[in-house]
Amino acid sequence: MDDIFSKEKDEKEEKIFGSLRASSWDEFIGQVDVKRTIQIAISAAKKRNEVLEHVILYGPPGLGKTTLAHIIAREMGTNIRITSGPAIQRAGDLAAILTSLEAGDVLFIDEIHRLNRTIEETLYPAMEDFALDIILGKGPGAKNLRLDISKFTLVGATTKIGSLSAPLRDRFGVVQRLNFYNISELSQIIKKAASKLGLKIDSESIKEIAKRSRGTPRIALRLLKRVRDYALVEASGDVNFSLANLALEQLNIDLLGLDNLDKKFLEAIISFHNGGPVGIETLAASISEDIETIEEVVEPYLLQIGFLQKTPRGRVVTEKVYEHLKIKKNEKQKKLI
Ligand SMILES: Nc1ncnc2c1ncn2[C@@H]1O[C@H](COP(=O)(O)OP(=O)(O)OP(=O)(O)O)[C@@H](O)[C@H]1O
Ligand SMILES: [Mg+2]
Repeated sequence: MDDIFSKEKDEKEEKIFGSLRASSWDEFIGQVDVKRTIQIAISAAKKRNEVLEHVILYGPPGLGKTTLAHIIAREMGTNIRITSGPAIQRAGDLAAILTSLEAGDVLFIDEIHRLNRTIEETLYPAMEDFALDIILGKGPGAKNLRLDISKFTLVGATTKIGSLSAPLRDRFGVVQRLNFYNISELSQIIKKAASKLGLKIDSESIKEIAKRSRGTPRIALRLLKRVRDYALVEASGDVNFSLANLALEQLNIDLLGLDNLDKKFLEAIISFHNGGPVGIETLAASISEDIETIEEVVEPYLLQIGFLQKTPRGRVVTEKVYEHLKIKKNEKQKKLI
């Protein structure tokens, strides 16, 4: 994937430049329904003097799942422990984490769909009864020992809710999907971040960055930082519209926020497969990209803006793509749509 959008790089940068992460409900823009549902669940839990129900957040990368997990812990006034599906290798790793939790803590498991099944099973009694089942010994003499753990809230995040097993999914009381953000929401996010960075930027430039952010706050913030660098190096440091446009052009982000991978993907469907339908495996092979990245990173936004359709026979590009990429259809492609 294009390096400028990688999460890892983002996190490294945050350490250096200080966090732009939204840290309270006030700073968390948009996702009104998600916010409201979670706020109600938090208030209810507080009134009942209970721990918050387990929460699962899902949706494409960079829409605020991790941020929400932090806000939840903050609102509940508890600690947050952070881990991820792939980081928990053995059931013992999970047991160690679970037994170290204090009452009310939030345990955040990122990429929870990547937990292996045996470990997942350790989670069931923990989520349901706040207990750990430990098997001592082997064979007929084996004994089951049940260990109580503190009541906690599991917050799971995934880009792939469909890969979660049904028994795991059913154990979450609050299941919330995050959606792409609109231009006005993204503009608010950019404006707040610019003021945190002490950057002078006009509203036209903010809107232009928002338009090119693929509906995604992480991308909006990254573009803002790149524009800021550009302004510092090429001009006085303040950002105006023409400068913002130049900076964005340099990053190969087009007017709709499509990057090189999006374009490569769309062009492959058109030039190698006559606009589709084409199966995901074939498509992935023709652009040498892995299926997960295509399904979780590339496709959701293209579906959202009506550039792509999923049919039982495969992926099809829409008329809009030919217009946007200024590609003239050949005879075969004309017949297909
Ligand atoms: N609603 C929002 N308001 C303000 N800023 C936001 C919002 N959502 C996300 N952000 C910002 O966008 C960045 C990315 O968000 P976050 O890391 O929470 O995404 P994520 O959904 O966890 O992504 P991934 O699936 O890749 O882990 C953060 O810096 C965060 O502060
Ligand atoms: Mg995250």
